[in-house]
Amino acid sequence: MQASGLRGKIVMSAAAVVICTSAMIALAAALFYVSQQVTTLQSRSTAVARSLTVQLERITNLGISIEDILGFDEQCAEAVLSYPGMSYAQIVKIDGTILFDSRREYANRKIASSDLLAVLIQGEITPQHPIDGDYVVLEPVRNASGSRIASVIVAFPHSLVQKGLLRMLVTGGTVGAIMGALGLLVLYAFLRRQVIKPVTALLRTVAHVREHPGDYSVRVPLPQQEDEIGLLVSGFNQLLDEMEERERELIQARDASDQANRLKSNFLAAMSHDLRTPMHAILSMNELLRNTALTEKQQRYSLNVHKAGQWLLGIINDILAFAKIESGKLELMNAEFDLRQLIVDTITLQEDFAHSKKLSLSWSVAEEIPARLIGDGPRLMQMLTNLISNAIKFTEQGSVHLDVMPSHQHINFSVTDTGIGIDPAKLSLLFEPFVQVASADAQRRSGTGLGLSIVKQLAEAMGGEVGVDSALQNGATFWFTARLRPAPPRPTPEETGSATHPPAA
Ligand SMILES: Nc1ncnc2c1ncn2[C@@H]1O[C@H](COP(=O)(O)OP(=O)(O)O)[C@@H](O)[C@H]1O
Ligand SMILES: [Mg+2]
Repeated sequence: MQASGLRGKIVMSAAAVVICTSAMIALAAALFYVSQQVTTLQSRSTAVARSLTVQLERITNLGISIEDILGFDEQCAEAVLSYPGMSYAQIVKIDGTILFDSRREYANRKIASSDLLAVLIQGEITPQHPIDGDYVVLEPVRNASGSRIASVIVAFPHSLVQKGLLRMLVTGGTVGAIMGALGLLVLYAFLRRQVIKPVTALLRTVAHVREHPGDYSVRVPLPQQEDEIGLLVSGFNQLLDEMEERERELIQARDASDQANRLKSNFLAAMSHDLRTPMHAILSMNELLRNTALTEKQQRYSLNVHKAGQWLLGIINDILAFAKIESGKLELMNAEFDLRQLIVDTITLQEDFAHSKKLSLSWSVAEEIPARLIGDGPRLMQMLTNLISNAIKFTEQGSVHLDVMPSHQHINFSVTDTGIGIDPAKLSLLFEPFVQVASADAQRRSGTGLGLSIVKQLAEAMGGEVGVDSALQNGATFWFTARLRPAPPRPTPEETGSATHPPAA
């Protein structure tokens, strides 16, 4: 589009230049021709007038009076005929009486034109301007003593010159137009090669780069000339070279950073996996120890070991889950599980924590949600555990409630608490890894800041999303959705149904 616009403008301006130039050349040629023609006609007429004068003077020098000469009209007519285009020739007395005329009927008349009469009185001149439509040449006829006895007037019509002018304008114009058209063609061919083609190629490349962001592999073909357009094209290509190089470096840097990140995540995953094994051993041994006969003090110590161990195990589990997701090794299970049983297990594990803070912990599942679902049960449990433990952690009094409801093609899990809430300005940050919103109570901040980010990534892996509604000091509702298919019906029908469970207190 733009290239054709440029082409159009170039052609239009070149055509304007060519048309003006050829018109001016035609005009100049015509004017030159006309002045040449006038000169030629004048000198012809002068020659005719001279020859008639010489003849007359020879006769009068013989002593014959000019009035007595007979048949001189014939000579005048012959002289006029000898040169095409002449109007007339006449011999006129000083007082304007026509003695002889190439047009016989004019003989013995008086010159009607006052202009010509005025010229006649002046004597020997050749008017530069037409008189009554004719250019005239005047030649004096003198007697032996040298005084003027008559004048020879030879005239040629102004229209002759005008016709010549017109003919010349038409010829000049035609030739000019043909030359102009040829010139235009040559100019266009030149501009096409030197300007339009390289500019079009440049535009095509710009369009390619615009349509394929990040692809700098195209180059504009270099024009042969080394003028400004050649410099523009090579400069543009150099720019593309540099952008391509920069892009390559960026991709390398990104790949290197991705690789480093993967290595780090692999390391984390391996580490936390290896940490879990001795942790389980410690907790199991402590469990065995607690079942032996211990003094009250020893029992207290071993209970503390149990609590700290569980806590540490939670942190290790978070890190392991996060590292697995980050290293791209997350693979969701697709197994059948009993949703209500899973919730009971999750709640049971958090009950002690809730009781220790005197909070009520309850749950409800909508009736239409099937008893058995297909999905990754353990990961679902991890997500619910994260939300419920957060809710308990950030609530000092009141309740924590888990609600499960259908939501379009998904199931919505929401945990509502009556705790400290969150500053709405910070809500958008919460699901990023390692983000913990500062709270007045430093103890609450214990944790990794990974829990919500794990919930988000797992929910997305399960085809759902996460969200939170909260106001500062006004509790919070954290929710996520997941796409969980109902399990195919079993041969023996099982009980399903709504269940609302009172606070486990
Ligand atoms: N129920 C809640 N009430 C108030 N703040 C919460 C709640 N849940 C999470 N938060 C805020 O979100 C932050 C991130 O939570 P999370 O990712 O689970 O990390 P962690 O629990 O390790 O701090 C918490 O530190 C807390 O500031
Ligand atoms: Mg947490």
